[in-house]
Amino acid sequence: MKYRLLDFLVEPNTGEGFDLHVFEEKIIDSMPLSEGKKCSSHCFRLNKDSDGIDSAECQKCPRHEVIQGKLVSKVSRIEYPVINGIPRILPSDLLQPLVQNVHNDYVRRFGKQFAKLGHLNYEVENEKKKTVEAFGYQWRTFVDNYDYFKDIMLSFTRPFMDEADYAGKLLLEVGCGSGRPGVASCKMGAEVVGMDISEAVESAYTQSLKLPGFHVVQADAYAPPFRPVFDVVYSVGVLQHIPSPEKALLGISKVVAPTKPLLLWIYGKRELWYQPIEWSRTLTRKMPLNALRIVSIVLAALSELFLLIPYRLMKASSLLSGVAEKIPGRIYAKYPFRENVVGWFDRLVAPVTYYFSEADIRALLEKTGFKDLKVHARKDASASWVIWATRK
Ligand SMILES: C[S@@+](CC[C@H](N)C(=O)[O-])C[C@H]1O[C@@H](n2cnc3c(N)ncnc32)[C@H](O)[C@@H]1O
Repeated sequence: MKYRLLDFLVEPNTGEGFDLHVFEEKIIDSMPLSEGKKCSSHCFRLNKDSDGIDSAECQKCPRHEVIQGKLVSKVSRIEYPVINGIPRILPSDLLQPLVQNVHNDYVRRFGKQFAKLGHLNYEVENEKKKTVEAFGYQWRTFVDNYDYFKDIMLSFTRPFMDEADYAGKLLLEVGCGSGRPGVASCKMGAEVVGMDISEAVESAYTQSLKLPGFHVVQADAYAPPFRPVFDVVYSVGVLQHIPSPEKALLGISKVVAPTKPLLLWIYGKRELWYQPIEWSRTLTRKMPLNALRIVSIVLAALSELFLLIPYRLMKASSLLSGVAEKIPGRIYAKYPFRENVVGWFDRLVAPVTYYFSEADIRALLEKTGFKDLKVHARKDASASWVIWATRK
C-alpha cells in the first residue's frame, strides 16, 4: 500500500478518514519515480501539511510500501487490516473468514493489535461468496495477459475515453480483477485505484509494485471505501456478475463526484448462438475450478479450429470477408490463444450473469441516481454496452 492511497480512502459506513498504523514497511528501490502529485492536504508518510512537502519527496513516495498494518477510522476507531500490502475493507461476513482461513499468518502475528475489527455488517449473499471464490481463482490463475490488454481496454471505453483521455486522470476502477485494465490505464498516463472484492487483488497488487500510480484495495461495490475525488469511476465486465446490480450502483454512486462521469462496460442481451453457452453454465458454474480450466482450454482450441482459423482465411478473401464479420467470437482472432482460454473460463465460471437490454440499464441508472446517460453498443463483439453517465 502506498501512503498516497490514504488521501482517497474512507471508512464506508461513517465516511471518516483513517489513521494508519504501520507494522511492516519495505523500500522498493526498483519503483520508478512518480509524477510527484501532492496529497490534498496532509502528507501521511511524513505526517506534515502537504504544502510544506518538496515535490521530490512526493516523487519518491511510492517507493515506501506498507506491507502489513492497520487502518483505524479517525472517530469511531473501526479497524481494517492491511495484509500483504492491501487494505481489506470488506463486510464482516467476508473479512472474518478471509483473515481466519486465508491470512491466518497475519492473525498470528498481528491479531493482538486489533480491538474492533471491521464493522460492515450487511448481509453477503451466497451468490456473492461464490463469486468471490470463482474470480479469486480466475485472476490468480490467468495472469499472463497484461501485454496486449490496452487494445481491449480501449474497446471497452471508446467512444467516451480514447488513449489521450487517460493522461493525468485520477481513476477508480470497480472490479479490477488481476489489474489488467488498471495497468493499461496507468500505462496510458492515469493514476488508478483498483478495487475488487476477491483475492484477485493479490495479482493486481503484484502489478502495483511496478507502477507508481497504481493502488489496490479489497472492497465490495456495495460499500466502496473512497472519497468522491476521482476524475472518472469505471467498471468493465463487472456489474453483470453482482447479485444486485442496483445495490452496486447505489454504492458506486456515492464515490462518483458531482459532475464527474461513471463509465461502464456491461453485457447486453446476447444473440441466439450464445444460448447454448448460457444453458451449459448451469453445469459449468458448479464444476471444480481446475476441471473448468481444462474444459476452457479445450473449448478455446475448438473455437480456434472451427471459428478463428476459418475467420482469418475468410477475412483474407475479398469474396468472403463480409461473411467473416458474422462469425461469433471473431474478436479473439486478434489476441493470443490464452485470451481465448480466459474468455471461456470467465463466461462459464461466473455464478451470476445478467444480460442487460438498453432499456434495463437506462432504468437502473436513473433509479440509482444517474443522469445524462449515453449508451453505446460496443462494436465487433458479442452484444454489450459502453455507458457514460453523471450523478444527479
Ligand atoms: C469478469 S471479472 C473482470 C475483471 C476486470 N475488470 C477485467 O476486465 O479484467 C469481474 C471482477 O469483478 C469482481 N467483482 C465481482 N463482484 C464484485 C463486487 N461486489 N465488488 C467488487 N468487485 C466485484 C470479481 O472479483 C472479478 O475480479
